[in-house]
Amino acid sequence: AVLIFYKKKELENHLSFLREEGKRIGLIPTMGALHQGHLTLLNYAKEYCDIRLCSIFVNPTQFNNAEDMEKYPRPIEKDINNLKEAGCDLLFMPEVDEMYAEGEEWHINLEGLDSILEGAFRPGHFQGVTQIVKKLFDIAKPDIACFGQKDYQQYLVIEKMVHLLKIPVELKLCPTVRETDGLAMSSRNIRLSDRGRNQALIIYKSLIYLKQHIRRETIEKSKVKAIEMLESIPDLKLEYVEICDLDSLEPLTDYTTNESVIALIAVWIDGVRLIDNMIIEVE
Ligand code: PAJ
Repeated sequence: AVLIFYKKKELENHLSFLREEGKRIGLIPTMGALHQGHLTLLNYAKEYCDIRLCSIFVNPTQFNNAEDMEKYPRPIEKDINNLKEAGCDLLFMPEVDEMYAEGEEWHINLEGLDSILEGAFRPGHFQGVTQIVKKLFDIAKPDIACFGQKDYQQYLVIEKMVHLLKIPVELKLCPTVRETDGLAMSSRNIRLSDRGRNQALIIYKSLIYLKQHIRRETIEKSKVKAIEMLESIPDLKLEYVEICDLDSLEPLTDYTTNESVIALIAVWIDGVRLIDNMIIEVE
């Protein structure tokens, strides 16, 4: 059975007992509408801790689009059942006013990492993410916390926050979980029409194209081709394709001496925003 907590204080009390027993706590923050990607993350966490704490909280401060927040799926009964089956120990499911004071406003200087790529298209998004993850870290004081590669920039942002604020937590990055045809699993995928779902495959195909074609001197050329592939889909609106440095996410152009790069893509299909990425070794 999974123990459910709605209040910070109750969760904190329970966790302090567990910590006294010498248990290692692992935190897996989510916004719910759990799919196999989340459940894999939960399974991945098992390796590194004794107690797995999942949080489900649709965090208002990270949505820069009211409609996206409203339409965010909230199948809570199904989520709880999935967590039970996955052997999750604890679930934290607070209301908004348990996490935020009214008019609360503060920022962390993320040194520009929050204003490129996702941050450029979703202003304020990463400030919202750091606010909620900071609060979750403060409450749970986890030994480890797991995040998915699907949101690679989010992982780097949290890593930067942990470093800047010297938060004693070990971060783990779990590989992206995909549908059998390659589409990265996402809570937003269920909002795609059949046609859109089919069209969304071009994202994975473009990443595979990049994986096969990127060489030290062909970064720009490969990128142009990937853009062409994506733009050949009539209903797709491209936000970005970038080939970047793995640590700084600085876009790479003509020639790179990097051993590995990361290709990142963001598009809209059917009014749904989809992102994906792939780490590519450069020969
Ligand atoms: P959410 O989108 O629910 O994702 C929760 C975690 O699951 C994140 O670490 C995300 O990277 C991971 N994840 C999602 N899809 C995945 C996939 N296909 N494969 C592997 N991991 C996947 O990310 C958030 O929520 C929020 O921003 C949050 C960190 C909870 C802060 O509100």
